[in-house]
Amino acid sequence: MKKYLALLLAAIMALSLAACASTAKTDAAASASGKLTMATEATFQPYEYYDGDAIVGIDVEVAQAIADKLGMELEVTDIAFDSIIPGVQTGKYDMGMAGMTVNEERLEQVNFSDSYSTGIQVVIVKEGGKVQSLDDMGADGVVIGTQSGTTGFTYASSDFGDEKVKAFTKTTDAVAALINGQVDCVMLDNEPAKALVAANADAGLSILDTAYTVEDYAIAINKDNNDLLTKVNAALAELKADGTLQGIIDKYIK
Ligand code: ARG
Repeated sequence: MKKYLALLLAAIMALSLAACASTAKTDAAASASGKLTMATEATFQPYEYYDGDAIVGIDVEVAQAIADKLGMELEVTDIAFDSIIPGVQTGKYDMGMAGMTVNEERLEQVNFSDSYSTGIQVVIVKEGGKVQSLDDMGADGVVIGTQSGTTGFTYASSDFGDEKVKAFTKTTDAVAALINGQVDCVMLDNEPAKALVAANADAGLSILDTAYTVEDYAIAINKDNNDLLTKVNAALAELKADGTLQGIIDKYIK
């Protein structure tokens, strides 16, 4: 008897899940003329960066694929990284997508979609500079560059002390400061670090690997917008299952 009950319950659950899925589709179709607004910070190649006037990259393409599935028009806005979560919280933007790491602090402020990619913190150093190894970072007088509001900023401040860390609005400005000697190293995510080193090929920059853990990147959505969260996760699941997501990542990360 118990067994039948369990089977029955499973059947009911499957049916109601199917019902949810089909409602989501209908809603998406109904909002065919709707806009999906996304806030990002576009100095984060290969996730988001400028190609001429256009913002391109993994996040933009994944967001476009999600918008297509929802029958919505994607609108991408480039703002300061530390303004993205507040912008999602106030409802100015539907979502924040910026190679953004899921962490406890942010989970108190916004919801996150399922993860679509990962990153790890590394350190860019300059040939002949004060920092040549991770051990050097603790030395007196060392200044660590980071991007404001990032996990790199949080790690650098908690591991080496606030007073040693300088925050920049753009990752490109942090790296420019390393090149001109204002900071001695820059802590940020591995793929953008590689892109910045490649973009400044004559500057004698290189990357130190750290022992920080792998971070999950996900899309930030307002805590009150469960409808969008459900739809985005459903779209992401499809994009994962049919290989679209991996295809986009492989296009940008060799
Ligand atoms: N993953 C890091 C974080 O979430 C850095 C993200 C910076 N993203 C950007 N588009 N600038 O804090």
